Amino acid sequence: MRLPRTTPQISSKTVSLSAYKYFACLRRSKNFKNRPWKRSSFLAFSAFALIASTSEARAEMVTQQIGAGNPTAGKEKSDSMRCQECHGADGNSNDERIPNHAGQYAGYLIKQLHDFQSGERKHETMAIMAEDLNEADISDIAAYFASQKVMHGEGRNDNPVAKKLFINGDPSRGIPACISCHAGNGKGKYADNIVYPVIGGQRRVYLRSQLVNWQIGERANSPDGVMNKIGKLLSDDEIDALANYISDL
Ligand code: HEC
Ligand code: HEC
Repeated sequence: MRLPRTTPQISSKTVSLSAYKYFACLRRSKNFKNRPWKRSSFLAFSAFALIASTSEARAEMVTQQIGAGNPTAGKEKSDSMRCQECHGADGNSNDERIPNHAGQYAGYLIKQLHDFQSGERKHETMAIMAEDLNEADISDIAAYFASQKVMHGEGRNDNPVAKKLFINGDPSRGIPACISCHAGNGKGKYADNIVYPVIGGQRRVYLRSQLVNWQIGERANSPDGVMNKIGKLLSDDEIDALANYISDL
């Protein structure tokens, strides 16, 4: 697997492993407890190992976010293949009906492009745009958009109906909280091999159209039909309120 360029070249796994070995050999030395200078160097090394493992976790998060593609190649390809004309040079579209890709999880973008290719997700323009992309094109373009600064709104919409549904859901009607899957501020997450897309800061009209599509079954490509079940429980007014609220996050 190719690592994204932002990942440090030296594997932090190796670093924390050698720190661990150092710790194990200190423990084995009999007089460790009675030698304060050794103890302090042990503490320093533990701190070092901790920092190394934190940066390892961060590197892993970056890999999950950007995937195995090459963002530099993806920048050129998304330009020459005209994706940027609609989705914006930095993944922020200029049209309320066209989704942003900036900071979107690569795994999610890749899945959608596969779904457009197979017909699992239907959209006339995107079926044509996705048709000729090969696997390398798909992962490179996804890596480019995923590595951009994550989309965000103005934070002005404070609609209480939408906010309540977004944060708490409505247990009496079986509606789960959006944040339970799409995470805080709707910035998405990767868990148990499922990518929950970034929705916070997504285009308002696009969000509304997708919620309506989930509701009427026009879009049906979410795992176990989860978004269709949720869409069907929402009223039209709630969909409007949610699209306004979420696009502003
Ligand atoms: C003419 C405008 C246009 C062009 C060019 C275009 N797209 Fe799209 N794209 C759209 C629209 C509109 C949608 C929303 C589809 C829907 O409503 O289901 C979309 C949706 C998508 C999605 C799904 C996003 C999501 O949040 O679910 C992906 C991924 C995508 N496009 C990638 C690409 C790539 C890669 C290219 C270049 C090869 C490209 N698009 C070129 C208009 C365009
Ligand atoms: C149980 C988990 C779960 C919950 C709860 C959930 N979602 Fe989703 N949602 C998903 C998954 C997974 C996808 C990606 C589907 C796919 O792969 O095409 C998704 C996709 C979406 C999309 C499409 C994003 C795009 O770019 O096209 C929207 C919009 C959305 N969800 C809105 C909501 C809203 C609003 C709520 C709360 C009322 C909500 N979701 C609650 C799992 C969930």
